[in-house]
Amino acid sequence: MDVNGLAAVITGGGSGIGAEVARHCAKAGMKVSLLDVNMDGANAVADEIGGTAVECDVTSAESGEAAIAAARDANGVGRLLVNCAGIATPGRIVGRNGPLPLDIFNAVIQVNLVGSFNMMRLFAADLGDADTFEDGERGLIVSTASVAATEGQIGQAAYAASKGGIVSLTLVAAREFAARGIRVNTIAPGLIDTPMMAGLPDEARASLAEQPEFPKRLGRADEYASLVLHMCENVLINGTVLRLDGALRMAAR
Ligand SMILES: NC(=O)c1ccc[n+]([C@@H]2O[C@H](COP(=O)([O-])OP(=O)(O)OC[C@H]3O[C@@H](n4cnc5c(N)ncnc54)[C@H](O)[C@@H]3O)[C@@H](O)[C@H]2O)c1
Repeated sequence: MDVNGLAAVITGGGSGIGAEVARHCAKAGMKVSLLDVNMDGANAVADEIGGTAVECDVTSAESGEAAIAAARDANGVGRLLVNCAGIATPGRIVGRNGPLPLDIFNAVIQVNLVGSFNMMRLFAADLGDADTFEDGERGLIVSTASVAATEGQIGQAAYAASKGGIVSLTLVAAREFAARGIRVNTIAPGLIDTPMMAGLPDEARASLAEQPEFPKRLGRADEYASLVLHMCENVLINGTVLRLDGALRMAAR
């Protein structure tokens, strides 16, 4: 898909990986909508790249529907959806204070898994019978899992379960949407230097940077963003989960 002039919808576009994807899409000539609950972040990135900030809570059917409609009004029908909205609230299944409160588990599943599904279904429905490109392609959905989907560390039960759900959704959605000309892929990053990581103490960050086999450093959000643009160009990449992690395999703790 030649993305120049097409519309992109990026959830979590107000920070970190989503913000960098938005910058790369704008640079490639896309009209970008940044959907986030964090309007300060979304507005700042929108101002920087000439995009459109849209308030959206991905866990809500109504908010998601209104945001897809607002993005379409501003930029035309979306051809690329990148699900970057996410939270990573940690907690052991049974911690010092007893079992993990269910609402913590629920909140992580809601944002990461239900939110990705919510936006995927609304985006694909909105694409409807829009014009097709080469090979009958209409659009592409890229969701964000994590290496925690397969190597969840102690304390990541909710996060790992939510990301595992995103991995499992990838092929079934690609199969269903094949008839609509919509591809579905997932990127499973290792450790990427974003505000989500910046909350950690320096010592912990330095120790994490030692974990990948090669290169021995944290990943950069632009490395994720350039993979999204490659997925746009390369129509054969479909129904797949691609690790972006420098051969990192997380240990139990
Ligand atoms: N940083 C990493 O090392 C890393 C590794 C693996 C996977 N990931 C995943 O990448 C994605 C982006 O992470 P990041 O590091 O850029 O984090 P980040 O915290 O910088 O950005 C996440 C964005 O999601 C938004 N968001 C949270 N809840 C939302 C909701 N209900 N509706 C709409 N927006 C919401 C936040 O406001 C924020 O702008 C997440 O899904 C995360 O799990 C990150």
